[in-house]
Amino acid sequence: MTQPGKWIRRGALIAVSLMAALGAQARSFDDIKKDGKILVATEGQFPPFNYFQGTKLTGFEVELAELVAHKMGVTIEWKALGFDALLAGLRQDRWDLVIASHGVTDERAKAVTFANPHYCSGGQVIALDPAIRTGADLAGKVVAVQTGTTYLESVKKLPGIKEVKNFPKDTDARTALLSQRVDAWVSDRFVAKQALAAAPNAGMKAGEMVFIERIAAAVAKGNQSVAAGYNKALAEVMADGSYAALSKKYFNEDVRCK
Ligand code: ARG
Repeated sequence: MTQPGKWIRRGALIAVSLMAALGAQARSFDDIKKDGKILVATEGQFPPFNYFQGTKLTGFEVELAELVAHKMGVTIEWKALGFDALLAGLRQDRWDLVIASHGVTDERAKAVTFANPHYCSGGQVIALDPAIRTGADLAGKVVAVQTGTTYLESVKKLPGIKEVKNFPKDTDARTALLSQRVDAWVSDRFVAKQALAAAPNAGMKAGEMVFIERIAAAVAKGNQSVAAGYNKALAEVMADGSYAALSKKYFNEDVRCK
């Protein structure tokens, strides 16, 4: 073998073993279609978007992903994990797609590729004290948020916050408010709407939104084929009335980005 040929072979070998070591090879849409099964990870602790009803994983995003997968011609094998593990697992190729109410941020977009948004929402202030309604009202206050969320990032930036307490689960941040260990909870506006409706006598009041965001599923960074397959199917679900019906069932309104 010629000297350059040897080096090319050696280089290719190193590249392949590096990729194996990093687990960097995400499955393409073709791989997934051949398998017939897409691995989708979510949290399962963020009602009404993804949660467990007994042992059954359900919620707006779970049902929406089922509709989208059907259009993609595949079935879903669900994985439910802690919120913090979800995007990291894409990089390790542990699943093909994550749908767990992630807001599209520049920071996250460095690590993953976002699909088109499946709803638009934002962080809202929830408190027991009716005088705590706005971001400015949070000055001097202790605020509960879920770890790793855009709520944490945005509350940290508000001037004069006394303390931000973060919890692995958003439902624990809500519990902290209900047990008066914090002055306010910042979470998704539709999560808040549902929490207030589920506990009308708990005294929770929804204040103002502190920021808005576009929520999207994510795939491994650069996995364009899966993103494109998903986006095409999502557009179909949004066009054929099934998205509208699902959104009406969960929220009594259409939550798509306008
Ligand atoms: N929208 C927020 C974010 O982007 C919260 C997402 C929380 N999702 C969940 N499954 N707990 O960080």
